Amino acid sequence: MSGRGRSPNWQAWLDAWDRQQEGFNPQRERRFDAMFDLLEASVGRRFAALDLGAGPGSLSVRLLRRFPRATSVAVDYDPVTRRIGREALGTVGGRLTWWDAKLGTPGWTEALPRRRFDAAVSTTALHWLRGSGVRQLYRDLAGLVRSGGIFLNGDRLAPQRPSSTWERLDRNVGAVRRRGRSRADLWKGWSEWWRRAAREPALRAEYRERERRAAQHPTGPSPSLETHRAALRRAGFRDVEVVWQDLDDRILYARRP
Ligand SMILES: C[S@@+](CC[C@H](N)C(=O)[O-])C[C@H]1O[C@@H](n2cnc3c(N)ncnc32)[C@H](O)[C@@H]1O
Repeated sequence: MSGRGRSPNWQAWLDAWDRQQEGFNPQRERRFDAMFDLLEASVGRRFAALDLGAGPGSLSVRLLRRFPRATSVAVDYDPVTRRIGREALGTVGGRLTWWDAKLGTPGWTEALPRRRFDAAVSTTALHWLRGSGVRQLYRDLAGLVRSGGIFLNGDRLAPQRPSSTWERLDRNVGAVRRRGRSRADLWKGWSEWWRRAAREPALRAEYRERERRAAQHPTGPSPSLETHRAALRRAGFRDVEVVWQDLDDRILYARRP
């Protein structure tokens, strides 16, 4: 997405990110809209949001577009996606702050540019954490989200023991929506995006740093829906509910009392 010696077209990088993410989740825009309706109904139209695992800012930019008086702090520890987001979107008139931190690790909140948020939001990111990371994250959020503020997580949140019917339906509906493409094809789109990023001269330093950090990535299965629910309750959140659902794609809501 850049010619030799030319500065990259950062918006094209962001658009390509959105396309490959939509491949995995054709309901992605509907899920964003549902989250914004929930936000507006809970905290109004003027609020400070914390975007957890923001990547290149797909959630934050849509949120700031819909709510012109809102602000967002976009946290991610991947230097490549953060750089693309920063270059493509900038600060949206001072309303968007990019932040490098590793969620779920001790001390990640210490230097955040603000100490109180009306809402913590996330899409397609927290499945990267493991059980202890999720518990640490929610304990920290309990100190960051103001009383009456909310948490919203849109992600694939599978139950611990799905029935065989559920698993079959989830698999078959996924196949219908891919319209002939296999799941392997979707992963090819993801890998191809990252292969291009690895070849982009303007991203060389960020890519090298990404590789160094990737070595510390946790392995093992993603936490179940039940793990998320229990960790939120234990951290002091209340009204923990699935408020939107498309098979295993869910929005989990919680409120700070
Ligand atoms: C699939 S992307 C989703 C990005 C964006 N939220 C979206 O919906 O397009 C997941 C993001 O979560 C980030 N992430 C995963 N674990 C993280 C952690 N422990 N701390 C910070 N970011 C993390 C990854 O670096 C990646 O950018």
